[in-house]
Amino acid sequence: MRAVDIIAKKREGETLTREEINFFVQGFTRGEIADYQAAAWAMAVYLRGMTNEETTALTLAMAHSGQVLDLSAIAPRVLDKHSSGGVGDKTTLVVAPLVASLGLPVGKMSGRGLGFSGGTLDKLEAIPGFRADLTTAEFTTQLENYGIVVSGQTHDLAPADGKLYALRDVTATVSSLPLIASSIMSKKIAAGANIIVLDVKVGRGAFMKTEAEATALAELMVKIGRLAGRRIAAVISDMNQPLGNAVGNALEVIEAIETLKGHGPAEFVEHCLSVAAQMLLLADAARAEADALAQLRAALADGRALKKFGAWIDAQGGAARVVDDYALLPRARIVEEIVAPQDGFIAGINAEQVGLTVVDLGGGRAKKGDTIDHAVGVVFQPKVGARVARGDPLFTLHANDRAKFDAAKARLLAAYTFSPHAPALVELIHKVVR
Ligand code: URA
Repeated sequence: MRAVDIIAKKREGETLTREEINFFVQGFTRGEIADYQAAAWAMAVYLRGMTNEETTALTLAMAHSGQVLDLSAIAPRVLDKHSSGGVGDKTTLVVAPLVASLGLPVGKMSGRGLGFSGGTLDKLEAIPGFRADLTTAEFTTQLENYGIVVSGQTHDLAPADGKLYALRDVTATVSSLPLIASSIMSKKIAAGANIIVLDVKVGRGAFMKTEAEATALAELMVKIGRLAGRRIAAVISDMNQPLGNAVGNALEVIEAIETLKGHGPAEFVEHCLSVAAQMLLLADAARAEADALAQLRAALADGRALKKFGAWIDAQGGAARVVDDYALLPRARIVEEIVAPQDGFIAGINAEQVGLTVVDLGGGRAKKGDTIDHAVGVVFQPKVGARVARGDPLFTLHANDRAKFDAAKARLLAAYTFSPHAPALVELIHKVVR
């Protein structure tokens, strides 16, 4: 078998066999298939798609490109959640410690920024000292000792996804259903959690732009998860405007901590509670959604979730004092408030444009291996549905370069739609796929 023939076969829109997929993934993992061949293959998949059988084979090949953890000796139930990618999506930073604070172990493999969407690991690395590159032994030991761990791919865990993910980020091959499904589910299977809630985003700031695409992605991932013996459900949630107010790594860490202190933006809090409630339900830790929500609200209100956050950050080498001292986080040199250019209701804030703006400010990567600027970003206040008068504050922009600041300001203002009438507000949670 030759990599070039497999690339050509997919380029022609043909269906790959399981053997061909295994050959390609194993060769790429070992470094025998070059990055440029994997990038060409990813583009062929992006353009030609894959059957559900191909996607399942790709997922299993990537999951088995390293070790597949069996965590049953640590705990009978290990919980995980994963987002398909959005803008301002700092949900894991709240949901992981919140659920873990109820005594339910959370073991999660996360990703970095991908295209316009932010990445949990990049956000966490805004905290001085935080280590996202745990070894497999560190991952399991921390899960056992602290009941919470969030790490990136290692040489041992889903290495094929780690390599392909970095290529997709910079080769315009992100928003492909088979590539997203296999990327997410290979990580979930390898990391060993047996209870998984997927947060599938839909809308302008998501890779899936329509309800039909998001539902297809959710259903396929749920099917693959079941095949792998996991208890799994998917929440389909709105991603037309940024989630919460903050977009940008350090800014999102602050918003997550504020949420854990009980001061989060209402819509973001609602989102976190909905995802966490599904985790409790799947784990049989709540009788009904109302019961799950009551347990979660109590853990937020009495500080248990915040305490768990601090313990988690500390366990991974991060400065847990950040909880009380945001000055420990990097802060941009230029921080300015931008005001509304006109009167009216805010009818839309195009989340994809917001995500791309933050990448251009330096908050994401333009090419593989770029270092990112954790300080830059934007804080929106008010959001869609609010009525503003010309000159009222719209957002605060954080930048480290005047030219980039000016470009970002223009792009963000162009991302707004104003209307003389109050817009119809979209439900945050569209549906749950079980
Ligand atoms: N999250 C992932 O882990 N992979 C993707 O492809 C998209 C979101």
